[in-house]
Amino acid sequence: RFDESTVASRKGSNAPSPPPSVKGIGKKVAKPDYSEQKIVVAMVGLPARGKSYLSNKLMIYLRWLEYDVKVFNVGQLRRTKARQKAQKLGVKENHTAEFFSHSNAQATQSRDKLAEESLEMLIQWLKEGGNVGIHDATNSTKDRRAKIEARLAKEKGMTLIFLESFCDDPATIAANVELKVSQGDPDYKDMSPDEARKDFLRRISEYEKVYETITEPHLSYLRIKNVGEEVTMSRINGYLSSRIAFYLMNLHIRPRNIFFSRHGESQYNVEGKIGGDSLLSSRGMQYAKALPALITDNIGEKPLTVWTSTLKRTIQTAQYLPYTKLTWKSLDELDAGVCDGMTYEEIEQAYPDDYANRDEDKFNYRYRGGESYRDVVVRLEPVIMELERQENILIIGHQAILRCLYAYFHHLPQTDLPYIKIPLHTVIKLTPKAYGCDEERYTLPINAVDTHRPKPKAAKQPSTHSTTQRQYFVEEEIKPLA
Ligand code: ATP
Ligand code: F6P
Repeated sequence: RFDESTVASRKGSNAPSPPPSVKGIGKKVAKPDYSEQKIVVAMVGLPARGKSYLSNKLMIYLRWLEYDVKVFNVGQLRRTKARQKAQKLGVKENHTAEFFSHSNAQATQSRDKLAEESLEMLIQWLKEGGNVGIHDATNSTKDRRAKIEARLAKEKGMTLIFLESFCDDPATIAANVELKVSQGDPDYKDMSPDEARKDFLRRISEYEKVYETITEPHLSYLRIKNVGEEVTMSRINGYLSSRIAFYLMNLHIRPRNIFFSRHGESQYNVEGKIGGDSLLSSRGMQYAKALPALITDNIGEKPLTVWTSTLKRTIQTAQYLPYTKLTWKSLDELDAGVCDGMTYEEIEQAYPDDYANRDEDKFNYRYRGGESYRDVVVRLEPVIMELERQENILIIGHQAILRCLYAYFHHLPQTDLPYIKIPLHTVIKLTPKAYGCDEERYTLPINAVDTHRPKPKAAKQPSTHSTTQRQYFVEEEIKPLA
């Protein structure tokens, strides 16, 4: 089942690379210049409609693509200011449902001021170099949106997009409310779950009294109804704005699993060579034969699609899996250019400067005639987009490719990304959750070589992180403007 035409064109197929003939060294490639990009994404929606969820997903996606993105959450600013007031003046503010009632003039004024202050912080941050600032507030009236629009009209070169999450599906709303109550929303940490639920539902009904869904024809907006059941897009122009809209309309929250596995051990792995298009070793074949039982035990009767690269070792690894398979050229391993087919020792000898440069800054280093990790992230963007649209997927991939995809799901920084441990003969099961991603790893008892090269001691070490569960939507302490 190999597509010989595609695999044959791959450099270094089963043969060592010719001696180095390219002059110069592999280059450190600078981050693209996004300094002209200034976008404000202002969220719109009632409480428990997934505004924070969408804000954070968008932030993670755009940061993965190297835009400078920050979420300005008005609820966090409110709590920070209330804590400071309590410490300084000993005054404890009441943030139960009454505070969110529009018939409470003082509270309404105070909430409007908080939203304005948060917007000012966002604008300031964009002026200091940020690209996309997300205003995570309800912005649920025409009047509030008009104020945001008027404020931004005073700034040059800032694009404003409203993103409304509209939801009238009782089951989704109930699930979201339960999540708030059970996951210890900071507003409810001193209440019992029953009290918290009652108060939160009252808060929602206070907002419902004045809520106006977005229809203003002159505004740029994306309105997502019931998690993508219906999407309205109005006046969205420009590359980054369209990309943001396209990403958001592809998201879903149905439960699913994403499995990652590297191909079984290859002949090149055994020889310590990188790249190429070799076949599996005999232990790699054992892994390919053992994989279907592990996957079917895990997924049961649920549908699953298997994605492989166009390289023989991933296609061979997938061959016994009883599921629909798709091959993606974008999933091919990082192209090592002139180093393809060499061992790390050979590279160090033939290209000592390149070798040192790569160790110095592995994410940015581009092999001569090949790719950097940054290049791989760019080519994997359509894969991420499709992964967001799909349900259960198993990707049989390669070390560098899976590192990039893994870093997206766990929101890991670029410095850590090229050192993430993705061992051979191990299945990584990810379960995306509302506020993070759960992970389980299954290692099959079939020996394989270790292809992980740790970061040299002299270089800055990657940060350590646990691999079972990561929560990335954490409450930060905010420094208010005044
Ligand atoms: P609040 O205004 O109280 O902060 P919120 O609108 O920010 O509420 P979230 O905290 O983001 O609400 O709610 C998280 C829940 O929303 C998660 O359970 C997530 O699955 C769900 N969710 C994600 N996207 C959507 C969507 N488009 N519509 C409705 N719910 C969604
Ligand atoms: O060694 C296996 C492999 O998939 C190579 O083909 C590839 O060049 C390498 O891993 C990527 O890992 P690193 O970026 O750590 O060299």
